[in-house]
Amino acid sequence: MRKIYLSFILLFCLGTSVMTAQERIPEVEELLKKMSLEEKIGQLNLLTPGGGIATGAVVSEDVETKIKAGNVGGLFGVSGPEKIRIAQEFAVNDTRLGIPLLIGSDVIHGYKTTYPIPLGTASSWDMDLTKELAQMAAKEATADGINWNFSPMVDIARDPRWGRIAEGAGEDPYLGSQIAKAVVKGYQGDDLTKPETMLATVKHFALYGAAEAGRDYNTVDMSRLRMFNEYFPPYKAAIDANVASVMSSFNDVDGIPASGNKWLLTDILRDRWGFDGFVVSDYTSVNEMIAHGLGDLQAVSALSLKAGLDMDMVGEGFLTTLSKSVKEGKVSEEEITTAARRILEAKHKLGLFEDPYRYLDNDRPEADILTKENRALARKAAIRSFVLLKKHNNTLPLAKNAKIALIGPLANNKNNMLGTWAPTGNPDLSVPILEGFKNVAPNAKIQYAKGANISNDTSFAKKVNVFGERIAISDKSPDALLKEALDIAKTSDVIVAVVGEATEMSGEGASRTDITIPASQKRLIKELSKTGKPVVLLLMSGRPLDISEEMQLPVSILQIWHPGVEAGNAVADVVFGDYNPSGKLTATWPRNVGQVPVYYSMKITGRPAPTSEFAKFKTNYLDAPNSPLLPFGYGLSYTIFEYSDVKASSTEFTAYGSIELSATLTNTGNFDGEEVVQLYIRDKVRSVTPPGKELKGFQKISLKKGESKTVTFKVTAEDLKFYNSQLEHVFEPGEFEFFIAGSSDSEFKGSFTLK
Ligand code: BGC
Repeated sequence: MRKIYLSFILLFCLGTSVMTAQERIPEVEELLKKMSLEEKIGQLNLLTPGGGIATGAVVSEDVETKIKAGNVGGLFGVSGPEKIRIAQEFAVNDTRLGIPLLIGSDVIHGYKTTYPIPLGTASSWDMDLTKELAQMAAKEATADGINWNFSPMVDIARDPRWGRIAEGAGEDPYLGSQIAKAVVKGYQGDDLTKPETMLATVKHFALYGAAEAGRDYNTVDMSRLRMFNEYFPPYKAAIDANVASVMSSFNDVDGIPASGNKWLLTDILRDRWGFDGFVVSDYTSVNEMIAHGLGDLQAVSALSLKAGLDMDMVGEGFLTTLSKSVKEGKVSEEEITTAARRILEAKHKLGLFEDPYRYLDNDRPEADILTKENRALARKAAIRSFVLLKKHNNTLPLAKNAKIALIGPLANNKNNMLGTWAPTGNPDLSVPILEGFKNVAPNAKIQYAKGANISNDTSFAKKVNVFGERIAISDKSPDALLKEALDIAKTSDVIVAVVGEATEMSGEGASRTDITIPASQKRLIKELSKTGKPVVLLLMSGRPLDISEEMQLPVSILQIWHPGVEAGNAVADVVFGDYNPSGKLTATWPRNVGQVPVYYSMKITGRPAPTSEFAKFKTNYLDAPNSPLLPFGYGLSYTIFEYSDVKASSTEFTAYGSIELSATLTNTGNFDGEEVVQLYIRDKVRSVTPPGKELKGFQKISLKKGESKTVTFKVTAEDLKFYNSQLEHVFEPGEFEFFIAGSSDSEFKGSFTLK
């Protein structure tokens, strides 16, 4: 029988249930005393005049009148100090109490200096870089008058059909938590009154990434054990990093949509985790509870407020029904005061009461936005986000004087470089791949042909083209496009084909049931691979794709996501060897969509398949192996890294001590390079079934060719904790196995015992 460390549980319980109420801010309390019920309700209302991407059916109307009437607590979708000043003046000069507005925006992967989509930057596994990028985004956004960011999105996503997998860090709670912390710290800094910092929002609380069948906004249903162990950690990490606000998600959580779920928004978020900021709904997510089946607007608005939601995004349910609900005794004025207090406290944290125009300096946009340094950082991030998926005949890197046939619908294209959710970025400023090649390798002889449309399907293209022409269907026939490509291939030494998804094929409202490369491009790739010339595929996408067929072809494959404003330059840096790729996948790539969900930490089950061969009455498939096409943590380099001497500093340790797990890493190839060294641990026996393995640490190491380094991870009992069936965060003594490797699909190499 295993003994649980009761004292640690006790400590845990004490630490989380005895919440010290945040000290009240006298200035805010004074203000609250002066406010009428209507003025308090006004603070809970967030509007958008529709300047950004309107993701719902509604865009706020009569914004000016509403601000002047004291009916607005914040705005989003407005940018630029001059415009924002006008709105802020309405609030400050024309309302009775002159309370300034929060100014929000979705700054998901850069403000105007767009860097790679979050799934791409996550692939860098570089936390310093991650924080630096967030700092840059905050500096640019605040220069443009924005003080509140609707980011980071930390939803764990294990379903590549779901388009919003692009917006997060992938499938793993540990890595996701590290990234959540780094991003929050980057946006908020250590002093929110500084003009270059802004409020961060962790979203979408909670479980939004687990939508059934990968269909956006669909139902979520999962056990609390799974929530706590696998889906909650990144949100909690953001709370622990002091995130100022939380955005509730659209989906059901245990039968009650998140925006009206008291268990989630109060019992967990505030009482258990100690969150003391404010909760904002997602876009009309309060109103959407009518469609969910929970009653009329008055009922769902009251439900949300009572659940712990403080600010209503766009739907105006709070604004139009709460005072009636107070009169009818359905909500109390006290509950409204509590929500208003949280909004006012956020404004106070930003220093807006001292100076409502703090972020409105007309000189800052010019000085701080899209600077040379910022573009350089976006380029640095992009090269670190690329993942080398397949090497063939050492075709890469290319010589800078090579004769290249640069082919593909994404090879000379500005519209798809930024990726999803970049509403403040400008695609026209992005560097196409062709231009980047010319910049980095001016002596290369480059011929270009489009080769294929992203898709030939006009009805599909229409759905993707909602925010601009991402899929442009050529007047030329597919055969004519292909012929042009094959013609230039004949007179070149090497073919580089830039293929994959258009920007709006991932992201919000962009789920796919077929995650292969579109047929038009598959045909192009096949034909190019038959030419006998070396072929490099530069693969662009906002999700893991099913590239099982392409992996069989004699081609090299570099995954470049949507690289951002510096796309072409960054891609060229890697293709021509100025940087050796070091990215690693943060979400598993399936062999086909039928394997989904497939993730590295899956449980073993009671009937594990003994080998990769099919075994009857074991957990496996008739028509595919269990293993994915490309595992979590996977990514190659131009050089070769060999792991040896994987060992533990001792065979056992106690809860009061620690153990060191180490490996020697040697660069045995021909290039200097960087490697993400990953530690995985498996708890062999415990009171609830353990995952097959779990990432518990990683370090990004740089090694010159021929160089060796020993990488050490210090592990304590704290690192071995999990949530048990009582949802207590505990460790249990016993045996653990581990390995240290460059990917999650390695074998266990050692073990130790926690006494
Ligand atoms: C998205 C959020 C976003 C909000 C405001 C919603 O549709 O789900 O992530 O912050 O719109 O733009």
